[in-house]
Amino acid sequence: MAEFDKLVEALKAAGEVTRLRLLALLADGELSVKDITDILAQSQPRVSRHLKLLAEAGLVVRNAEGAWAYYRIADSGSRGELVASILQQLPKEDAVLVADHHALEKVKLAHQSKANKYFAQVAQSWDKLRKLHVPESAVEAAILKYVGPKRINNLLDMGTGTGRMLELLSDVYVHGTGIDFSREMIGVARAKLAAAGISHAQIRLGDISEDEAKDGSGALDASDALANLVILHQVLHYFDDPGRVLSNASARLADGGRILVVDFAPHDLEFLRERDAHRRLGLSEQQMQMWGQFCGLKIDHFEQITNQHSNETTDKSLVVCLWVLTKSKGT
Ligand SMILES: C[S@@+](CC[C@H](N)C(=O)[O-])C[C@H]1O[C@@H](n2cnc3c(N)ncnc32)[C@H](O)[C@@H]1O
Repeated sequence: MAEFDKLVEALKAAGEVTRLRLLALLADGELSVKDITDILAQSQPRVSRHLKLLAEAGLVVRNAEGAWAYYRIADSGSRGELVASILQQLPKEDAVLVADHHALEKVKLAHQSKANKYFAQVAQSWDKLRKLHVPESAVEAAILKYVGPKRINNLLDMGTGTGRMLELLSDVYVHGTGIDFSREMIGVARAKLAAAGISHAQIRLGDISEDEAKDGSGALDASDALANLVILHQVLHYFDDPGRVLSNASARLADGGRILVVDFAPHDLEFLRERDAHRRLGLSEQQMQMWGQFCGLKIDHFEQITNQHSNETTDKSLVVCLWVLTKSKGT
């Protein structure tokens, strides 16, 4: 198809009420078809048909993950520019778009409350549970090896849970901050750090998916010192849009600093969504690169952590990966 015809197709794809609403919704971040269906209150086949048309026109990108599919808006190339200019023209105060936005917030809150309930239940036993899923000693050895013994001024542990990373790296950082939205988790973290005599780390309650607060309120406080090392250890798979959390991590990163992400490689253990409140079935290298690029980060280091001392309790179909991201030049 000639470029001209392709452009006509793309404009036709965007030029329809539901599809424009879809673009407006996806401008806020990646969403699963299931959530989009709930937000628009339209049937799943209907929503899927609209999404397929947008994807064929290159205006959105599909990512299949187990029984779910996620969509995001095209953010690069000529279609990325076209989507950006369409989004710019959208009247933000339009009643339908405002209602969609409210419905989206409601869906996000429901997910958050489900995750919060799950972590409230497991807070006391989390340190034991973590070991059941993954070869913890191999993962921690890889983290210690990568971080190295050189002193780090400020460490930020996003989704700190019971504060294990702050404990593991306590000899390395001068000042540590852990943030988590579960009161139960941070209760355990505070008690544990106090018992271990770690007084150079503080734990804060907060939502790491929220944008940085310029006024000093919120979890990611713009007035805090920037971090030399940001850790996201087994956290990103709890988010529909891990790119948003990564972007928040990037905003808190000092020049020359590193972001260490430890998470699962793509897997097909669908039951973890229901049982353990996972949203994403692991993260691929390609996705990490794409989310990183979007917020000015590049992957400096990647490794799969193999479990040489595998024991019977860890799940063999879960592979843990370690990514190190730094700011790309010129950002
Ligand atoms: C699987 S645990 C990992 C905890 C810790 N990093 C570790 O490896 O032991 C994920 C943590 O992310 C936290 N979390 C999930 N969503 C969050 C959000 N929106 N804001 C802050 N913390 C969040 C949960 O409360 C939980 O403690």
